[in-house]
Amino acid sequence: MARMLPILASKFIIFSLLSLLAMILVTGENHGFARNLDQRLVGLDKKEKLTHIRFYWHDIVSGRNPSAVQIVPPVANASATFFGAINIIDDPMTIGPKLSSKLIGRAQGFYALASQEEVGLLMAMNFAFIDGKYNGSTVTVLGRNPVFSKVREMPVIGGSGLFRFARGYAQIKTYYSNSTTRDAIVEYNVYVLHY
Ligand SMILES: *[C@@H]1O[C@H](CO)[C@@H](O)[C@H](O)[C@H]1NC(C)=O
Ligand SMILES: *[C@@H]1O[C@H](CO)[C@@H](O)[C@H](O)[C@H]1NC(C)=O
Ligand SMILES: *[C@@H]1O[C@H](CO)[C@@H](O)[C@H](O)[C@H]1NC(C)=O
Repeated sequence: MARMLPILASKFIIFSLLSLLAMILVTGENHGFARNLDQRLVGLDKKEKLTHIRFYWHDIVSGRNPSAVQIVPPVANASATFFGAINIIDDPMTIGPKLSSKLIGRAQGFYALASQEEVGLLMAMNFAFIDGKYNGSTVTVLGRNPVFSKVREMPVIGGSGLFRFARGYAQIKTYYSNSTTRDAIVEYNVYVLHY
């Protein structure tokens, strides 16, 4: 009997550990393909952080190496609003307003001229960061950008890597634009809540 005790005790310990693991992994209903998890498993128990990201976005339409290319032309009679046009972009994001300043990532996505009354964009883009600890992480923005307004605001709808579960907004201001070449440099101030 005395020799059985350690065996029983170890069985009990293993059983307890397995039950605990099961409790941690499955805290709710299980539908086979979908189940509720403990939020701690994906780091959601950490305090949410607010990060301010500031950079300049270079939309280079002219020249031999454009970063923004029109893939759909405007509809006929779109006049000055360019309604219907779509540009696909891989725009450099730099620390300073000069293109030669440090590159911190690229804004990849597209914008569509979606207003018949003004030059108004629907923007859908991922900020793909390449610098430091943010290398490989992304922030996704989807919003409306009436380009001739002084300050525009677009929602941050998500992110990846360090920006998982991101939400927030971007405030943007035109720093430079050229009506001949259509090139533009825009200052972005992005406020992101993430874990
Ligand atoms: C464009 O506008 C012109 C002048 O108003 C008109 O004659 C033409 O039919 C319009 N074209 C289309 C495709 O709406
Ligand atoms: C970013 O990550 C890529 C892929 O892991 C790596 O090749 C590159 O050197 C990194 N860049 C910086 C600046 O750390
Ligand atoms: C716009 O670009 C054209 C062509 O490169 C240049 O001649 C002109 O000076 C530019 N205008 C401004 C305001 O920078």
